[in-house]
Amino acid sequence: MARTCVLIPGDGIGPEVCGAVVRVLEAAGADLVWERHPAGTSALEAGADTVLPESTLAAVRAHGLALKGPCTTPIGGGFASVNVALRKGLDLYAAVRPVRSLEGVETRFEDVDLVVVRENTEGLYSGIENEVTEGVVTSLKVATVRACRRIARFALDYALTRGRRKVTVFHKANIMKLSDGLFLDCAREVFRGTEVEYEERIIDAGCMQLVRDPSVFDVLLCENLYGDVVSDLCAGLVGGLGVTPGANFGESCAVFEAVHGSAPDIAGQDAANPLALLMSAVMLLNHLGEHSGGEPHRACAARIRDAYDATLRAGALTRDVGGSLGTHAFTDAIIERL
Ligand code: NAI
Repeated sequence: MARTCVLIPGDGIGPEVCGAVVRVLEAAGADLVWERHPAGTSALEAGADTVLPESTLAAVRAHGLALKGPCTTPIGGGFASVNVALRKGLDLYAAVRPVRSLEGVETRFEDVDLVVVRENTEGLYSGIENEVTEGVVTSLKVATVRACRRIARFALDYALTRGRRKVTVFHKANIMKLSDGLFLDCAREVFRGTEVEYEERIIDAGCMQLVRDPSVFDVLLCENLYGDVVSDLCAGLVGGLGVTPGANFGESCAVFEAVHGSAPDIAGQDAANPLALLMSAVMLLNHLGEHSGGEPHRACAARIRDAYDATLRAGALTRDVGGSLGTHAFTDAIIERL
């Protein structure tokens, strides 16, 4: 029976890249039924009274699965991030962002193969900020044993099941001795005695090493804010935000979304690269493929991956990675190769 997947088009380029991805998945014969739900400023425009309607959260809870476009967050004021609220509301505690070189996309490095595992629920993203007195504000960084342990366990499990050789924790425990110190303590405890190589890097030095030679790393385990920043840094190693997929996992739900945001600078111009979200959809199909009876999903994922690999190898590229194709023409080029 076809699996229902919630589709959240989101804001900015979200509806364009979601539309492109749905076209490819339908052409590839993915056994999915889409159930569209709003989130973001587009939800308000559609008449909802909030940027994250309860019905959207309820739908993801009910089906356990969503493909999500980016949602805009106002800077320095306005409503709180829809993305953060969704991750917290569904307890999607682990973000997984694979970063791989793609043949046909020219960059400084070849053979980059990294995975960022990001803690998604706390740290500075807890949003606890205060104006202590005029001209003085504080922002609270939260770390709990429960969240630090479970993200370390998730990274260990991910490394073991995917045959990854090493996990490196990026931290700043020399300065944030308690919060990052707890993150490190939990990771050390979880990785002790396991067959996965474990190491730690102070994040500033780690970033320098990443841009000099990404091959020294394999899986990067980060608390929330570091994971956010390091994800974009890693995206830059392989061609940018147009080619970097992602997934958010909880105990009972999984939401697949690209690393990029709503890109207001190119929205509505047929200029967005849909590949990052398409790669996220391939992760979604592979996720379904891991369960019993999932073989058709896995086969569909492989068909789509082969098609976009062939498209890139043929030099059919969007503008963000040096080509000239618009969103629509690039999507057609992938569909032709399915
Ligand atoms: P952004 O990721 O939207 O854009 C950064 C740059 O990358 C822009 O120049 C944009 O044109 C380019 N870019 C991004 N995705 C692209 C694609 N698929 N194809 C071609 N070019 C692409 O980040 P920015 O501008 O900092 O944020 C815009 C909004 O998105 C903000 O409101 C932010 O809060 C939100 N955001 C939402 C996320 C989510 O929904 N998960 C993640 C990151 C940001």
